[in-house]
Order: sequence, then structure tokens, then C-alpha cells
Amino acid sequence: MIVCVCHRVSDKTIAFCAQQGAAFDDIQLEHGVATQCGKCECAARRIWSECQGRHPIAHLNQEAALPA
Ligand code: FES
Repeated sequence: MIVCVCHRVSDKTIAFCAQQGAAFDDIQLEHGVATQCGKCECAARRIWSECQGRHPIAHLNQEAALPA
């Protein structure tokens, strides 16, 4: 799912970066998340937060559990 429409950044990209130890600022610099209109910032930060350290695949598991 695309989280940042302005820069076409997906939840999987944000989750992967978080799992690799990237700070949110790093994701902003590398992918442009939340650097244009800013509407994606809350969702992007939530995904980033859920996918760091202790919960490395929490977001992706939640997505897989949703009905189609
Ligand atoms: S949707 Fe991410 S900056 Fe606009």
C-alpha cells in the first residue's frame, strides 16, 4: 500500500527501512516521506514505530491478517 502519495513510498519500504535501523529522519531524506504535503506523516511514523526493534514485522503481519 502506498503511504506517501507525493513520493510513492509504500508501507513495505518504510517497514524495511525501520527493520534495518533507519531513523525516521533517514527515511525522509532517502525517500522523501512526509516532506511535501505532510499528510502521510502520522501513518508513516506509526509504521516506522511498529517495525523498529521489538516488533520487526508487526505492521506487515497486521496487514496480512486483514480480510481482502
Ligand atoms: S503524501 Fe507524503 S508528503 Fe504528501
